[in-house]
Amino acid sequence: MKRLRLGVNIDHVATLREVRKTIEPDPVSAAMLVEQGGADQITFHLREDRRHIQNRDVRLISEMAQTLVNQEMAATAEMQEIALAMHPDSVTLVPEKREELTTEGGLNLLGDTKRYSEVVMALKESGIKVAAFIDPELSQIKAAAKIGFDAIEIHTGEYANAGLGNSKDALRILGDAAKMAAKYNLHVHAGHGLTYHNIHPVVLIPEIEELNIGHSIISRAVFVGIERAVREMIELMKR
Ligand code: PXP
Repeated sequence: MKRLRLGVNIDHVATLREVRKTIEPDPVSAAMLVEQGGADQITFHLREDRRHIQNRDVRLISEMAQTLVNQEMAATAEMQEIALAMHPDSVTLVPEKREELTTEGGLNLLGDTKRYSEVVMALKESGIKVAAFIDPELSQIKAAAKIGFDAIEIHTGEYANAGLGNSKDALRILGDAAKMAAKYNLHVHAGHGLTYHNIHPVVLIPEIEELNIGHSIISRAVFVGIERAVREMIELMKR
């Protein structure tokens, strides 16, 4: 089985800063510690309302990062322009609603296909890999392949919300989706709601190459520090 990459989503560090509209804690420092902990990738979501990550964070992280950088964003013209200027290694397109607490549900790639195709083409032409954050559904996987995405990130929220005792069906759906995506030559990532406690069965899905995890790692980091929190998650991701 291939080694599994870890992307650490640092948005929650920026959320804490923005609660006070101050300069700390700095998500850029967090990104550097994530690297020190051994993560493969720094992930952040630059939201249209800038509720946590700011343009300044994106600029500094893109200058300083030694590891991969993955920018989550809505498929808007503004975000496309920023991504083309900052040139992250990859972009993950996500749906965005202003009132949501976090990204709820995956993209609907069956609507607005033209816009998704335009963004994907522009980013790919400049050498940025593009993933679609989607629910584990066959119709969405087929649409992602047709539009030309390099990868899908499977939304693991349903699995996480089911709870460990009740997650058998959700886990089977994740495994089937991963298999199907690989058949369509899509790279397979996964994320949302993954924790130190529920990650193990997901790690064992062989087609998954990358996990993006935020809340659980940053929560643990409050008590043990970012480097250790990252190292402990990497330990649980060994196949
Ligand atoms: N992947 C995507 C596309 C996301 O939007 C998020 C949430 O920001 C995550 C992964 C990480 O989710 P969590 O914070 O629940 O680990």
